[in-house]
Amino acid sequence: MEITLVKKIMEDGEECKKCREVSERLRSGDELRFIDKVVYADVRDPESEGSRLARELDVEIAPFFIVEEGGEKTIYKSYMVFKKNVLNKVLEAADIEVENKRKRTGDTDAFGISMASSAANGKNSPDIDALNKKFEGKSPQELLEWGLNTYHPNIALAWSGAEDVAIVDMMLRINPGSRIFTLDTGRLNKETYDLIDAVRKKYGIKVEVLLPDSAEAEKMLRERGMNFFYEGAEARKLCCNVRKVEPLKKMLASLDGWITGLRRDQAVTRTALNKIEIDDAFGGILKLNPLAGWSHDDVWDYIRKNDVPYNKLHDMGYPSIGCAPCTRAVESGEDIRAGRWWWETPESKECGLHVKKK
Ligand code: ADX
Ligand code: SF4
Repeated sequence: MEITLVKKIMEDGEECKKCREVSERLRSGDELRFIDKVVYADVRDPESEGSRLARELDVEIAPFFIVEEGGEKTIYKSYMVFKKNVLNKVLEAADIEVENKRKRTGDTDAFGISMASSAANGKNSPDIDALNKKFEGKSPQELLEWGLNTYHPNIALAWSGAEDVAIVDMMLRINPGSRIFTLDTGRLNKETYDLIDAVRKKYGIKVEVLLPDSAEAEKMLRERGMNFFYEGAEARKLCCNVRKVEPLKKMLASLDGWITGLRRDQAVTRTALNKIEIDDAFGGILKLNPLAGWSHDDVWDYIRKNDVPYNKLHDMGYPSIGCAPCTRAVESGEDIRAGRWWWETPESKECGLHVKKK
């Protein structure tokens, strides 16, 4: 049996109200895991997959479910009827299966992934080792599809406004309602702000922008000065903490998972990066790093092939981009992060967004 959920995206780029309500019911009842595919009927694009399906099947309301079994397609326009006729039976079968598996091997979910109830956040969390095995050879899109189908709208991309824009494009193709946030430190380059606006315009989305706490920032500037972060690692980390880490902490407290553009090839601190982690520095939520296995060139192939808007600083010798005063262009042959906090050693070049609790 294959279950497809078709949802509608309105003119403003948001999912329809009923679609959001049904997603919430599926999520709260832990039923999302039985939906094999979520597709969107985007009112702004008659050729979107959901719009085509709605036309073919002559369905005018959203959301609706398509259940395919033995070559037969059944359409459910009501969540209640779908739940009664399909979900309850699937749930019952899954319960029996889970019970049998538990007897044999321990606790596993419908993806065949073990769900340990002892996660740091107290919620059921998937078996990370099994997920990493499953997704290691897979594409970034496959991991994103799993993450979005399982956790949306409680999962969001942390987008720095640099080459991680490739993930923005991938996510919006999978789910046009995907959530994207950026930490506006107040010290970003004009080119980065230009890219954020270009992305808003091209994809018709809203980017969630997080600012530092104004009282904290004012206190720091009053006591330490405007450019005090050049004084050394302690000063720099304090600034990153106020401008990036604290706002991130607030954002992640409202999510079950976050997605980043981290790659193993970026730095000595990232060579052992896994694609899927439990982020114990931020409440034990899930952290997905879909580009972990990609190289700098893979990312740029994707950006060029898909005509993704990019940060113009990349054309000016900036392979890696952070805040304006802490990023400079690099010479050819230099390390890609040589222009980030260039006064520090490579081992200390992390701003606190990506840390492992000891
Ligand atoms: S940093 O820790 O050195 O600043 P880097 O610039 O390599 O990180 O970016 C790695 C990932 O961290 C990005 O792909 C993104 O997911 C997240 N990130 C970094 N800076 C920001 C930001 N300002 N806003 C949102 N996410 C960010
Ligand atoms: Fe402050 Fe520089 Fe960190 Fe930006 S990168 S938050 S300006 S220290």
